[in-house]
Amino acid sequence: MTSFSAILDTLRSASDRHLDDLVHWLKIPSISSDSQRCEDVRAAADWVAQKLASAGLAVELITTDRHPFVYAETKPVPGAPVVLVYGHYDVQPVEPLEQWVSGPFEPTIRDGNLYARGATDDKGQVLTHVQSVCEWIAAGHPMPLQIKFLIEGEEEVGSESLEARLEGLKDRLACDCVVISDNSQYADGQPAITYGLRGIATYELSLQGPSQDLHSGSFGGAVMNPAIALCHVLSSMVDEEGVIQLPGYYDRVRPLDETERREWARLPQTDQEFAQAVGVQKLFGEVGYSTDERRWARPTFDINGINSGHQGEGVKTIIPATASAKFSFRLVPDQSPEELTDSIERHLKNVMPVGVTWELKPDHGAPGMLASTESHFAQAAKEAIRESFGVEPVLIREGGSIPIVTRFQEVLDCDCLLLGWGLSDDNAHSPNEKFRVRDYHDGILASAVLWEKIGKLNS
Ligand code: BES
Ligand code: MN
Ligand code: MN
Repeated sequence: MTSFSAILDTLRSASDRHLDDLVHWLKIPSISSDSQRCEDVRAAADWVAQKLASAGLAVELITTDRHPFVYAETKPVPGAPVVLVYGHYDVQPVEPLEQWVSGPFEPTIRDGNLYARGATDDKGQVLTHVQSVCEWIAAGHPMPLQIKFLIEGEEEVGSESLEARLEGLKDRLACDCVVISDNSQYADGQPAITYGLRGIATYELSLQGPSQDLHSGSFGGAVMNPAIALCHVLSSMVDEEGVIQLPGYYDRVRPLDETERREWARLPQTDQEFAQAVGVQKLFGEVGYSTDERRWARPTFDINGINSGHQGEGVKTIIPATASAKFSFRLVPDQSPEELTDSIERHLKNVMPVGVTWELKPDHGAPGMLASTESHFAQAAKEAIRESFGVEPVLIREGGSIPIVTRFQEVLDCDCLLLGWGLSDDNAHSPNEKFRVRDYHDGILASAVLWEKIGKLNS
């Protein structure tokens, strides 16, 4: 029978094949928000379903009203833990296209990085786990635990289908721990275990002024300009220091834990390095909190896009008929997206100038999450990272959101391990998204070592 070290050798020697697989998958433009891309999204699901099936896993494509989930499982192992690997095969839109050095769906290697939309978020990262399991089975070595995969196609649009189906899939997805690689290492060469994520609430606000665009000379001074009204109400949400002005907004925000603050203060990245990495001269945010505290454990408000009036060349002196904005809040544990929506509605009623009508549409919402750093699973992950990346992981939180994670914790009553193999400058959601080839291969090794370690725990 093959030993575990032989499996690691196989993994190392198969690195070209692993890279080819990722390149294939990345060529499929599975943009979940684009209704024109439904067939491509489906093709990306089929690709990974096929990959898992050809390794001998029991695979099912679970269809929904929108994009399917790929579910697969290895054989049950009595007495051993069950791990559910969750990830997503859908990707974000690619605009602005002209800023990509190579096409978003023409995966290209430059300087040791593989560039393509989805490289790090999340095809490249979730594939590390698929590869480790497929190779393990191919080696003819029995796995020391049962692995289930749930790879969905709506994460980037809020995981609504999964949310709706989760209760019904509860028995099938039953597990001791969910493993997710859909985030980052702390910094180059410094892998991490992420024990917290922020939640999210997103909105679109539309304002209607006059029934059509008006000459600003003839009508300016006589009617409310909806673009100005929009500026007023948006700026009323947050003050100049980044403190959110909605009544009661901070009521449920958990104060930062002093031990946690001390731990984070010891992390190696400086503000200067951080500012340089994102291309700003100075960082900005709430006074009294460090950059990591503000990114990971403080709630924020952001405008994601504004639309009104003349955008074309030259001057057009109009009062636009409409103005709209998309905005989002990041939430921390104990804040609720539903309560937030009520509070925004109340606030808008108070501050909205006369002369416009308005509509607020909530899109997706999810609460923030925290996971254990002390569990046996976290212990196993620390060892796996140490052995495969050659570095002791740091414990961090991150500011992004994975909408379904808190539902996994509640419905499946399981532990959760967030193990990001990517880097924070991988350009997720941005032009020139990438995944470092070395991190992909190390991620595959770390994944295999993790199965070996978790297999030694009793369920
Ligand atoms: N992979 C990210 C989540 C993430 C980002 C975790 C950064 C940790 C650090 C995920 O694909 C994502 O982009 N989520 C969206 C959710 C939204 C569309 C509901 C997000 O955070 O904006
Ligand atoms: Mn993701
Ligand atoms: Mn994403």
